Amino acid sequence: MRFSDSFVQEVVDRTDIEELIGRYVTLKRGGSNLMGCCPFHSEKTPSFSVSPSKKLFYCFGCQAGGSVITFVQKAENLDFPEAVEYLANRAGIPLPRESEDPSAERGVSRKRVLEMNLEAARFFRACLFDPNIGREGMRYFREDRRMSEATVKHFGLGFAPNSFNMLTDHMHRRGYTDEELIAACLCGKSQKTGRAYDYFRNRVIFPIIDPSGNVVAFGGRVMDDSKPKYLNSSDTPAFKKSRHLFALNFAKNDCAERMILCEGYMDVIAMHAAGFSSAVATLGTAITPEHARIFSKYTKKVIISYDADEAGQNAAKKAMRILGEVGMDVRVLKMNGAKDPDEFIRKFGADRFRRLLEESKTGFEYQTERVLARYDLSLGSDKIKASGEICALIADYWSPVEREVYLAYASQALGLPVDVLKNSVEQIRRKNKREMVARESREAQASVKNFGDRINPEASTDPRAVSAEETVLGLLVIFEEYRTAVERGEVRLREEDFVTTFHRRVFRAVMDRHASPSGFRFELLGMDFEPDELGRIERMEIARQQLSQNGPEVFRSAVRVLSEISEGKARSGEDLNAHLAYLREKKAKLHKGKVEDK
Ligand code: UTP
Ligand code: MN
Repeated sequence: MRFSDSFVQEVVDRTDIEELIGRYVTLKRGGSNLMGCCPFHSEKTPSFSVSPSKKLFYCFGCQAGGSVITFVQKAENLDFPEAVEYLANRAGIPLPRESEDPSAERGVSRKRVLEMNLEAARFFRACLFDPNIGREGMRYFREDRRMSEATVKHFGLGFAPNSFNMLTDHMHRRGYTDEELIAACLCGKSQKTGRAYDYFRNRVIFPIIDPSGNVVAFGGRVMDDSKPKYLNSSDTPAFKKSRHLFALNFAKNDCAERMILCEGYMDVIAMHAAGFSSAVATLGTAITPEHARIFSKYTKKVIISYDADEAGQNAAKKAMRILGEVGMDVRVLKMNGAKDPDEFIRKFGADRFRRLLEESKTGFEYQTERVLARYDLSLGSDKIKASGEICALIADYWSPVEREVYLAYASQALGLPVDVLKNSVEQIRRKNKREMVARESREAQASVKNFGDRINPEASTDPRAVSAEETVLGLLVIFEEYRTAVERGEVRLREEDFVTTFHRRVFRAVMDRHASPSGFRFELLGMDFEPDELGRIERMEIARQQLSQNGPEVFRSAVRVLSEISEGKARSGEDLNAHLAYLREKKAKLHKGKVEDK
C-alpha cells in the first residue's frame, strides 16, 4: 500500500512518541529530551534520546534515529507502509481504501487472505457440527479432550474432512482461485498438475484470531498418534508465526494483572475453560523477542506454564530470558503429577491450578532451586560451587533492593552468612562492569566504522567535502529559511556540488519535499530512505543543532567549500596542485575571524 503524504502526516501527528517508545524503553526526562537505554543495541548506560517536541529519536551509541515510523519499522521489523498502517491502526485512523493500492494488483493482498480465512473458518466449523462429516472430530474434542460444547464454540473450533478437495471446491464456488488459496496457505500445490488441494485433511482445526478479530491462520491436530501431530499455516501476507499468539483475542481483555504463557493450543483452551482467560501460546515455535514485545504491550507480568518434562523446562528458561529482556516480571510455574497444564486441570481441578499460579516462582527463586537441585550442600566443595553460581545470578540484578532480598533468601538456602555472600556478589559485579565497559566501547567503535561505510561508502574519499556536505544537509533539514534560500537561488547550491552519491540523494529528497505541496517534513523522508539511512540524516541534524546560533555563517562557509570543490573539478585541466593552493589561500582569507565548522 502506498500512502499519500497527508495520510502519513496525520498518522505521525496523531502518534504520541513518548507513549509509543515508552512501551519499549523506560524513558527518563533529561532537559527537553527523554533518555533511556537503546532498544536497538545492547547497552547498560542510556544513550538513546527522544525529543517529544520534534517527534524524533536518536541513539548516540548506534546512531539509529528517525521518526515514530522509523522506530516502528525497526522495533517491529516492518517496512515503511506496514509501519504507517501499524501506527494508523494504533491511533484509530481508518486506512485509505484498498482499491487505491496499486500493489494489491500484484500478489494476493492481506485483506483477501483474511476474507478467505474467515470463509474457511466457517467451512471448518460447519464440518465439525455436521454429524456426517465431523463426528470423529467432535468426539475427539468432547470426549478425549473433555471440552464442553460452549468451549468448542467459544474458540470457533472446526474439522477438516478427510478429503483433498472439499475445502478447495467450496472456495472455488465462492470465487477464490487456486493461486489465492495457495497464497493463503489453505491449499497445497500439486507437484504434478500444479493445481490446489486441501492443505488440512482429517484434522481438528484451531483458528488463530488476532486482537482485531481477524482469522489470521489455522492449526490442525491429528486425532491419533500419527505424524505430524500438528500442521500450522506457514507465513502468509496476513500471518507471521513469530508475531502472533494463540487466544490473544480473548486474553487481551484479561491481561491487566498478568498473562500466562503455555506451550500449545490444548493447554490454552483448558485454561480458558477453567477460568484463566489470560492464557496464550506461541504457534509451533519458541518464543521470539517480537512475542516478548507483544506481552510488554499488554501486561507487566507473565507466568510461564510449560510442560513439566525436561524439554519444557529448558524452553521455560529461554522464555524467561527473552521476556526478562523487555522488562517483564517473569514467573515460572512448577507442576507435579501431570505432564502439562491441560492434564493437571483435568486431574486436580481449577482451584489447585490457581494455587500453582499463585505459588509460581520468580525467575530468581526458580533458577536458584535448579542450581540447588544439582548439588549436595553437605559437601563443602558443592556448597562453594552452588554459592558461586547463585551469587552470579544475584549480581545480574540492577536494583539494590532486589539484591538485598535475594541475598537474604540465598543466605537461608545455603546456610551461609549474608555478609560473605554480599562480598562475593559485589566482586562479581565489579568484574562484570569492567567487562561490560570494555565490550560496549568495542562494539560502539565497530558499529560506527561499519555503519559509516555501509550508508555512505564514499565517505572516506574526500573528508573535507563530506564534512561540509553533512553540515549543509543538517542545516537544510532543520531550517526552512535555508531551504527557501537555496530554492530561490539566493544561495547557489546544486545537486552536482555534492561529492558523495548518498548526500546528493539526501539533498534532492529534501529539496523535492520542500517544493512539494505538503512541504518538508522529516518523517516523510522515510518514504525515500531506509531506517539506517534516516538515522544518518538525523545525526547530521543533531550535530548542527549544537551550533545553530552561528547557523548562517556555518551554512555559507560550508556551501562555499562545496562550490570550490566542484569548481575545482570543473577546472580539472589545470594544474590541480596549483589550483588547490589557490583555493586554500582564498579560503583562509574568507574564513579569517569567522566561526569555523570543526
Ligand atoms: P504438544 O505436543 O504438547 O501438544 O505441543 P498437545 O496438543 O498439548 O499434545 P498432547 O495432546 O498434550 O499430547 C505443544 C504445541 O507445540 C506445537 C503446537 O502449537 C502445540 O500446541 N506443535 C507440536 C507443533 O506445532 N507441531 C507438532 O508436531 C507438535
Ligand atoms: Mn500437551
